[in-house]
Amino acid sequence: MLKVQNLTKSFGANTAVDSVGFDVDRPAMIGIIGASGAGKSTLLRMLNRMTDATSGLVEFEGRDVLALSGTHKRAWQSDCAMIFQQFNLVPRMDVVSNVLHGTLNARSSLATMFNLYPNADIHHAINILDRLGIADHAAKRAESLSGGQQQRVAIARALMQDPRIILADEPIASLDPMNAQIVMDTLRRIHDEDGRMVIANLHTLDTARKYCDRVIGMRKGRIVFDGTPAQLTTGVARDIYGADATFSEAATSTAIEALETEAEKARHVAEAAL
Ligand SMILES: Nc1ncnc2c1ncn2[C@@H]1O[C@H](COP(=O)(O)OP(=O)(O)O)[C@@H](O)[C@H]1O
Ligand SMILES: [Mg+2]
Repeated sequence: MLKVQNLTKSFGANTAVDSVGFDVDRPAMIGIIGASGAGKSTLLRMLNRMTDATSGLVEFEGRDVLALSGTHKRAWQSDCAMIFQQFNLVPRMDVVSNVLHGTLNARSSLATMFNLYPNADIHHAINILDRLGIADHAAKRAESLSGGQQQRVAIARALMQDPRIILADEPIASLDPMNAQIVMDTLRRIHDEDGRMVIANLHTLDTARKYCDRVIGMRKGRIVFDGTPAQLTTGVARDIYGADATFSEAATSTAIEALETEAEKARHVAEAAL
């Protein structure tokens, strides 16, 4: 289905993505993991043509994705919808209008400017919101929703394009654990029920292990692992994140515990003062 070969992106002397290649032969759910700066976002952005590749090949069902231009390029961008860490909704606009923005590529700019959405689209948008369990919020401003709800609105907006692929760039990095789980469950369900390919950049290894059929590990722009969650051993993880990863992870959690203890103390002091 999707073939990526020697895909490279350089920013000046810095090679963000370095001769990356992988094949996807069925609509899988794929997690891309790697430390910050490994090139995960740049890779996704090249796949949906938000960023131009320096060199290499991307093919989807035999079509040369990197050669598409004009309406063909826009059609491709509809086919592979993108979801972002910060949701990228219009905060002051109501939820259903945000979802209807997902049809933007297919409509005239004049109709869009005057919010002239066909009734069928509005019904469809509400059905999608209903499917994701947030139809009750359809008329609210996007900014009044929780992060987890906003990300589900962003997923609804993506589904409005009826995409073949959903590209998600750290979709749960800004969410608390409960909302993170709801959003990942939602992506997995869309994959299972609709047969859409999902490629998600994920910050934590555990999430990739739990939700994905296949995990691609990147380090310094290169793919250093491509396999099943079961093959993702501690040794492999060290390759992906660097030799001192375990140490720095432990250091981070110690630091967080210390902060939590401080916050707890402060809360007791505040309560005592009241
Ligand atoms: N627009 C840009 N201009 C210059 N350098 C960039 C740009 N986008 C990303 N980079 C660089 O490319 C590398 C990979 O970044 P990125 O793809 O964002 O990694 P990740 O998503 O894994 O954190 C980093 O070194 C980053 O600084
Ligand atoms: Mg990134």
